Amino acid sequence: MGMHDLISIRDLEKKDVELVLNEAARMEKMLSKKADALLAGKIVSTMFFEPSTRTNMSFQAAAKRLGAKLMTFYPSVSSTAKGETLGDTIRMIDGYVDVIVLRHPYEGAARFAADLADHPVINAGDGGNQHPTQTLLDLYTVKKLKGRIGGLKVSLLGDLKHARAMRSLLYGLGMFGAEVTLISPPSLRMDEEIIKETKEKFGISVSQTSDINVKGADVLYVCRIQKERFSDQYEGEKMQREFRVDLNTLKNADQSLAILHPLPKVDEIPPEVDSDPRAKYFEQAKNGVPVRMAVLNLASR
Ligand code: CP
Repeated sequence: MGMHDLISIRDLEKKDVELVLNEAARMEKMLSKKADALLAGKIVSTMFFEPSTRTNMSFQAAAKRLGAKLMTFYPSVSSTAKGETLGDTIRMIDGYVDVIVLRHPYEGAARFAADLADHPVINAGDGGNQHPTQTLLDLYTVKKLKGRIGGLKVSLLGDLKHARAMRSLLYGLGMFGAEVTLISPPSLRMDEEIIKETKEKFGISVSQTSDINVKGADVLYVCRIQKERFSDQYEGEKMQREFRVDLNTLKNADQSLAILHPLPKVDEIPPEVDSDPRAKYFEQAKNGVPVRMAVLNLASR
């Protein structure tokens, strides 16, 4: 695989994604031992300009499991606080480390950084744009739980207008031939252009509805309503109260349904669902470590 930088799921072909998923399965088997020679002598820098729990910590865990040393960049105590540009900052860190993991609020920041850096840049989320390692771990989780991705009925539910994870995931599901239903309030539908492009490129079926009915679905992927993106916060809160997945919603869902969520979850899935055997989102988050080990290892070759 010619992976150096990882900026967008759209830069990958199906064979590249399959290589990452296979490599992640190998890494999962190596988690407890043997993996720590793979990146021995390398330095990985995590540069998070936006808050993160899972992506940051699982990249750090992945780097440590591979035997790499970590250098964490803290924007608030760096010269970013004095006004140093992202470009100059990336040039500096690129001179110190072997791999850069970057989360930044600006769309396109990861590609900009990759153009400047000689070492691999892994996009850990750029604004509302892309979050490719999230999509890779989502696909890994679906394949691990269901044994396949192609032909599965997958419902994506929530704020499909703002969630970058959902856009990348639709593309990834399209690549593998899943059948997708998009469930959102009418005002929070996914961009028509993205749906059209995915349908045309991969020939998959994508339907849209506002009706929260998940009967017959193999996978239900929920994301939160991004209230912070609403000009009227009250409107966002109201929508969240109406658009949530609780045990009542799941009454007519299949017992084999897998409920996924990129997390953090807030009100869209109440805690009562956590103990339902169909809730797989904590297991999904755990898969971030072997998938990010695979990405770091492939990018460092
Ligand atoms: N899913 C995800 O990216 O979570 P964090 O923002 O906590 O990294």
